[in-house]
Amino acid sequence: MDKNVFIMDHPLIQHKLSILRDKRTGSKQFRELVSEIAMLMCYESTRDLPLKEVNTETPLVTAKTKVLAGRKMAFVPILRAGLGMVDGVLSLIPAAKVGHIGMYRDPETHTPVDYYCKLPADLEERDVFVLDPMLATGGSAIDAVARIKEFNPKRIKFMCIIAAPEGIKAFTDAHPDVPVYCAGLDDCLNDHCYILPGLGDAGDRIFGTK
Ligand code: PRP
Ligand code: URA
Repeated sequence: MDKNVFIMDHPLIQHKLSILRDKRTGSKQFRELVSEIAMLMCYESTRDLPLKEVNTETPLVTAKTKVLAGRKMAFVPILRAGLGMVDGVLSLIPAAKVGHIGMYRDPETHTPVDYYCKLPADLEERDVFVLDPMLATGGSAIDAVARIKEFNPKRIKFMCIIAAPEGIKAFTDAHPDVPVYCAGLDDCLNDHCYILPGLGDAGDRIFGTK
């Protein structure tokens, strides 16, 4: 496994992922679980955020304490399904900026079609977390990260819930400098480029479409 790929095997994440995969899980619970998993993954994947020392007046003395250093980070969900992860990560880092990249997979070719991009200002001073629950062929994430790189952010990380080996390979070949965090590394893609065993269509399950 590529040293830049991190499988988040925390028991709470794995437990919630099992319920997420279950076809009987309805949209309401599915949305809640995506959000909770994203929050837990965010906690684990932000261990290396830089800190700086500040002076804090406690009720008794002045203490040297630590706070996050630098400009606020940016979360960038890939529309639509990445939206489901935003509430969860913002519950941990509420001051973060949020950008959006719109991509959908062409149903015939399975290649990504780019339809929207609005990113926070001063990206060159920020860390960016790209969010999408599914890394299948990798096409959407590869193109989204390439678009974000045009703005020269300090660092980029990619966070997904389920990845296929094909997507991991394509993504790490295209962006060897971008760490990938995922909760489940699945077996393969089917003929329609859906992840097996996977969880089906993440966007449809989050938004109750189809
Ligand atoms: C899904 C998913 C990813 C993409 C992954 O989006 O949310 O963005 O497919 O597949 P890939 O790795 O092969 O590119 P989809 O295209 O279904 O759009 P939606 O979120 O609008 O439903
Ligand atoms: N997009 C999804 O939502 N699910 C898959 O399995 C593959 C791409």
